Amino acid sequence: MDSTIRNKAIRVMKANDRGGFTVPTANLYPYQWNWDSAFAAFGFATFDRDRAWRELEVLFEGQWANGMLPSIIFRQNDPDYFPGPTVWQTGTEPPTTGHSQPPVAASVAWRLVETGGEADLARAQSLFSGLYAYHRWFHDVRDPDGTGLAAITHPWESGRDNCPDWDGGLNGVRVPDDLEPYERRDLTHVDSSQRPTKAQYDRYLSIVKFGRDCGWNHEVIYHDGPFLVGDPGVQFILIRASKDLRALANRLGRATEENALSAWIERAEDGSQYLWNESVGGFCARDLRTGHFSDAVTSASMLAFYADVGTSAQFDRLVANGKRILDRVEFGFPSWDPDHDRFEPQRYWRGPVWSVMNYMIAEGLAEQGETEMAARLRSDTQRLTDETGFFEYFNPLTGEGYGGGTFTWTAAIRLLLSTDVSTSRAA
Ligand code: GLC
Repeated sequence: MDSTIRNKAIRVMKANDRGGFTVPTANLYPYQWNWDSAFAAFGFATFDRDRAWRELEVLFEGQWANGMLPSIIFRQNDPDYFPGPTVWQTGTEPPTTGHSQPPVAASVAWRLVETGGEADLARAQSLFSGLYAYHRWFHDVRDPDGTGLAAITHPWESGRDNCPDWDGGLNGVRVPDDLEPYERRDLTHVDSSQRPTKAQYDRYLSIVKFGRDCGWNHEVIYHDGPFLVGDPGVQFILIRASKDLRALANRLGRATEENALSAWIERAEDGSQYLWNESVGGFCARDLRTGHFSDAVTSASMLAFYADVGTSAQFDRLVANGKRILDRVEFGFPSWDPDHDRFEPQRYWRGPVWSVMNYMIAEGLAEQGETEMAARLRSDTQRLTDETGFFEYFNPLTGEGYGGGTFTWTAAIRLLLSTDVSTSRAA
């Protein structure tokens, strides 16, 4: 890797380091985010293993007693961010949001162990029960009927906040008359054409209000909440992470947990079929209350390879869709199908490319022998950052960068793409 780019990426990560945890980027996102931190740890793993473990350990300080790892940990109140701790009112210490995000952490821990030594194993051993409790929460609380599909209860839990995947589910969300007036802070940092709309924001906050009003009782939220959707992103990331956690359980000699994880994985592989949309030829988001399907291939659909879930006929259709979509764009992989009329190349998760998704998709494709497409995505990701900068997300047609310009996970993925994690060793 060009040492200038490498040094720049390391500088971005260090500038966002708040001592034990990194913020996704200064100003726009001033707290610790769940899957951002997991990817930050991945990035740190390429040059500082101790710091990589520390990122995960500090993240787990925000874990709830029921096992949930929240999407954001509010370590200090920053009036520049909305909705902050006074809106969520979870009553936890440290204050957090009341829901989760894609569970990438176990995959990072396993990679560190797989490529590391005794010191890594010891750190993993201490983290194991937290990781396991987190997975158990997803499998039990988000799938209380044992269908094998872990639901999300808010679009923000998907990490793909305003993707059209949630348009159907959000339409069903009633905005209550007593929704408190609010002032968005994101629009003071980023142009509104690159962010979610006001109508969407009202609904996001209505779902938060429901959770707050029921005291963040996740049983009530699952059964009676305004939004319950199956997300191929969370589902596939959870399955992959559960497989990685099972490998870790095996290495640590935790047979009981290893067996429980095997049972969950088997159930989840079957349950994923509920998301297969035959007319699209891909795994799509699906409303769990109405059965209504989202109708386009997304970057999350492409994570089936990463989870190793699907029949060979399904993989063939996904590969064909992937090729068609990549032929339409200069830079893959767009977060929404460019042939669909809801495609917006600059609006957040309604079209733009995100490095973290590319990284996981490429890993999965390479593992399944789709090496050409994997190589294309890796090279697109590198070109985007090398030519444009460490932006939050990118226009798939032009490569223009948007959102925060010194983004932790974009820098982390850039490092990962050209540095072998196994070359760094724990202290
Ligand atoms: C946005 C993204 C989400 C990310 C967060 C912090 O909300 O949609 O995936 O975790 O920003 O970077």
